[in-house]
Amino acid sequence: MTIPTHIGVTMDGNGRWALARGKQRTEGHLEGIKSLRKLVDCAIRYKVPYLTVFSFSSENWRRPKSEVEFIFKLLKKFVNSDLDKLIENNVRVRILGGRDDLEPALKTIIAKVEEKTRSNTGLNLNVAFNYGGRLEIATAMKNIGQDLLDGKLKICDITEDLVSSSLFTAGLPDPDLLIRTGGEQRTSNFLVWQAAYAELVFLDVLWPQFDENWFVEALEKFSSRQRRFGGIETVT
Ligand code: IPE
Ligand code: MG
Repeated sequence: MTIPTHIGVTMDGNGRWALARGKQRTEGHLEGIKSLRKLVDCAIRYKVPYLTVFSFSSENWRRPKSEVEFIFKLLKKFVNSDLDKLIENNVRVRILGGRDDLEPALKTIIAKVEEKTRSNTGLNLNVAFNYGGRLEIATAMKNIGQDLLDGKLKICDITEDLVSSSLFTAGLPDPDLLIRTGGEQRTSNFLVWQAAYAELVFLDVLWPQFDENWFVEALEKFSSRQRRFGGIETVT
């Protein structure tokens, strides 16, 4: 089996899982945390260097305020309950996304988890939170534009590498594999620039039911794909 260097996961289907069981949608998000722990554990055991999980999109603000607040509380709860274990497992955590519209308590917890895990050298766990691919590209354009105005950059300096290094994911390799659970077959603004050559695997499982078997299924699908990056198959 080929192990991807970077896997992105859209953890979808929490609401449907809960509603099908006569529960509140929020209970699905709570249950989803257990699947996130399983995923992180798989990434460590299968030696995946980079894992990026989509936990709250910049479009999810359209949901009822109570659900948005619940998801925010869940991030705080996850950091508080799992930080020690993440440190113990040598996991480095980064939070990718817009920070401006987050409440101060959330910004503090984000700074804390990033700071406490900064020197860890094991799994790189990136949590895309208040993240949107288009938002990310627009933010990068603003920063590049400002540098042009300030004379720090010239037009000819604008290369693909410069754009990559201006994104929230600066310094991280592009994802090789994007997994989405929940049955929907779209990328929904996740890693828009970075996933140009990622293999897409859609799993017919609601996120709270995700486990190692599904992880292996995604890796098997990935391993069977032929990646050419715009080139042609080399015959030896
Ligand atoms: C994914 O589950 C979690 C987030 C987007 C925060 P959903 O909440 O989208 O679950 P469904 O798609 O409604 O079932
Ligand atoms: Mg959904």
